[in-house]
Amino acid sequence: MACQHVSACPTLRSSWRVALDAACRVSQPWKGSRLSYSGFAPMEPGHQDRLKDDSILAEQTLHTPVMLKEVLRCLDIQPGQVVLDMTFGGGGHTKAILRASPEVTVVALDRDPTAFSLAQQLAKEYSGRVHPLLGRFSELGALLSRLRLQSCSVDAVLLDAGCSSMQMDCPKRGFSLSKDGPLDMRMDADRYPDMPCAADVVNALDQQALASILTAYGEERHARKIASAMVEARSIYPITRTQQLASVVAGSFAASALYARKDRLQRPSHVATKTFQALRMFVNDELNELHAGLCTAQTVLKPGGRLCVLTFHSLEDRLVKRFLHGEDVGAPPRRSVRQRVQRWEEEEEEEEKGGEKDSGHWVDLQRGVLMPQAEDVLENPRGRSAKLRAAFKQ
Ligand SMILES: C[S@@+](CC[C@H](N)C(=O)[O-])C[C@H]1O[C@@H](n2cnc3c(N)ncnc32)[C@H](O)[C@@H]1O
Repeated sequence: MACQHVSACPTLRSSWRVALDAACRVSQPWKGSRLSYSGFAPMEPGHQDRLKDDSILAEQTLHTPVMLKEVLRCLDIQPGQVVLDMTFGGGGHTKAILRASPEVTVVALDRDPTAFSLAQQLAKEYSGRVHPLLGRFSELGALLSRLRLQSCSVDAVLLDAGCSSMQMDCPKRGFSLSKDGPLDMRMDADRYPDMPCAADVVNALDQQALASILTAYGEERHARKIASAMVEARSIYPITRTQQLASVVAGSFAASALYARKDRLQRPSHVATKTFQALRMFVNDELNELHAGLCTAQTVLKPGGRLCVLTFHSLEDRLVKRFLHGEDVGAPPRRSVRQRVQRWEEEEEEEEKGGEKDSGHWVDLQRGVLMPQAEDVLENPRGRSAKLRAAFKQ
């Protein structure tokens, strides 16, 4: 696995190190040229990964689907329709879709081999109604053509971005700041042995590149201080564990600042939370992937077909909003970071005041974003920062 490169060879393979360094210098996170791992991660045709460790499945607490009522309402599934769930995860949304209407067929994609195994199990329960696919959004076009699913043939698409609880809760996957495990964070697990994991990134990139990642993907105000702490720590010993990284980040703050930040529920959040988010997004190329997923949804949906997108932080939501409103998400920034943040805030205010937008490709199904209700957040606090956007294709 890629993580092992770090302890075996602290300098890492130069090919992707150069690519990662170059990636950090570009300023548009979702621009195709910025973060493409296609060079390191060729897709193997017909690749059918089996779970190497079936015990992972047994120990899963499955994911509680976020904003389920709202998602079902927006998708408005009718009998006999074809639905594409681009983020199967634990299958919570897919199961509800299957139950919502008889004869509905679900094409269930996930890049995570564990989720794919769960989808295969569900396919046995719902014979002929679930078609599991293993791969990334950026590979979906090719996977769908193997299923002989043509453009404009899908009735509804769901994209529930980010990580599942199964990924977060399994220490071996290395996503969690509170559970010690190898600093991995690859949603694809071991499918692409050359794909860098979080430990590779933390131990190989220079300080400036690390700070750029923390700023771009974590919107971390203390990026330079944290990057400097990482570089200092790894000069003594490589950073290979999640809790080791959490301690390194914590060590760059005063003790009183450790839990001074608050989440959206006003609960104290650890100072390393944004660092973990940034690394995860970088390792999995999440914004480019999200953009690729939205483009594929636009291609496969029928006119009148519905798209529902759940996102969990502002970078993702802004990308979805701009896409649905027909803005060029790859255009180079014309303003400073401060001006862009100010403009985003103004746009959010305008949106809250109302007004559906028509981009030429999409029509919003509701005014602005939907957020989870207070009682749903109490039941499922992980969904607290969810934002749901829904639109139909013109
Ligand atoms: C929030 S979970 C989905 C949970 C699911 N809706 C449920 O109810 O169980 C997100 C899932 O999307 C998958 N995922 C994230 N990015 C992806 C990508 N680019 N391509 C394919 N799957 C992706 C993750 O592996 C994860 O399993």
